[in-house]
Amino acid sequence: MTSQLFTPIALRGLTQPNRIVVAPMCQYSAIDGSATDWHILHLGSLAVAGPGLVMIEATGVEAEGRITPGCLGLYSDANEAALSRAVDACRAYGKAPIGIQLAHAGRKASCHVPWQGGGPLAAGDGAWQTVGPSAVSFDDGWHTPRALDRAGMDHVKAAFLAAAGRAQRLGLDLIEMHSAHGYLMHQFLSPFSNRRTDEYGGSLENRMRFPLEVARALRQTWPEDKPFGVRISASEWMDGGFTIDEAVIYCRALKAIGCDYICVSSGGNAAKARIPFGPNYQVPFAARIRKEAGIATRAVGLIVEPHQAEAILAEGEADMVALARGFLDDPHWVWHAAEALGADAVYPPQYLRCKPATWPGARIARGEPKTKVA
Ligand SMILES: Cc1cc2nc3c(=O)[nH]c(=O)nc-3n(C[C@H](O)[C@H](O)[C@H](O)COP(=O)(O)O)c2cc1C
Repeated sequence: MTSQLFTPIALRGLTQPNRIVVAPMCQYSAIDGSATDWHILHLGSLAVAGPGLVMIEATGVEAEGRITPGCLGLYSDANEAALSRAVDACRAYGKAPIGIQLAHAGRKASCHVPWQGGGPLAAGDGAWQTVGPSAVSFDDGWHTPRALDRAGMDHVKAAFLAAAGRAQRLGLDLIEMHSAHGYLMHQFLSPFSNRRTDEYGGSLENRMRFPLEVARALRQTWPEDKPFGVRISASEWMDGGFTIDEAVIYCRALKAIGCDYICVSSGGNAAKARIPFGPNYQVPFAARIRKEAGIATRAVGLIVEPHQAEAILAEGEADMVALARGFLDDPHWVWHAAEALGADAVYPPQYLRCKPATWPGARIARGEPKTKVA
């Protein structure tokens, strides 16, 4: 039987050669928002390894929208030039389409990188004023954001559009608006962070208004033949937060404005939420949104094994899967999945000799002869 995972998928003018996506992963290795050689190594090693799409990490649309001082940005000519080095290297040696996640961290900006604790920066560490829908901090001890007024919202929207223009100049294949994990768009959606009393707060219709406004503008500015997606947190895992029922309504509205897919994650906006981590723990959300909003979904979160990923697609729960830690652990996950599922994967010519079919002696030497599953 043909593997679903290795069946191409077309989104507008882009055909992803398979349905395996490298999830966006912050590397905290940029300088003033500009990509470094680390990004060439990191993205390059994944772009040559056969995925259907590589997503570039959450990329701040303005300096104040970065989570940490090490986060990637796309708000200056220098940022654009630096990222073009990494993108060009991926293009020169790899065949994977490349997308970028455009982000604004809102009240969760101005933090240390994770390996320095990840908490809010102190004034002496270069902390900056954060913004949010309301002046409500993420948790005790976190920065209190300045509530955005209309001029501030216009400024954020313009920053998203300018970054999308830069993404287009870089020749990227897809943009994704980050509306998950407690960052600015999610902050507008959630009653925990949005306490506004104007037309951007209160009812779901009001809480969705600004994210939809930005998404609509992005869709209009981004070339019509290129896909535009949104990553959402479909649940906050806590009473009183944004719910999966609301997420379905949000995704219907996103579909109506021309969004092509939803990457379905969860959590990130409620510091005290207890998330039931486990294999496929977010997949039921992707399945519901796919069914009830009628839009392509990308499932993500503790999808680790090839047969597990294949089953998600075969059972119609999602159209694509994304892996993050799985790719850090095994950058050649796609090749190993192809082997397990009896499918073909793309190898760069330099690495063709590692393809197990050409390498029987070595497999036996490894003591792990692998059987192909038809
Ligand atoms: C190192 C690292 C960086 C991440 N950075 C981002 C990011 O930039 N944007 C985002 O939406 N999610 C980010 N995530 C979350 C992943 O994209 C993914 O949703 C999550 O890790 C669950 O998938 P996994 O179980 O396959 O790792 C990051 C995760 C990791 C491990």
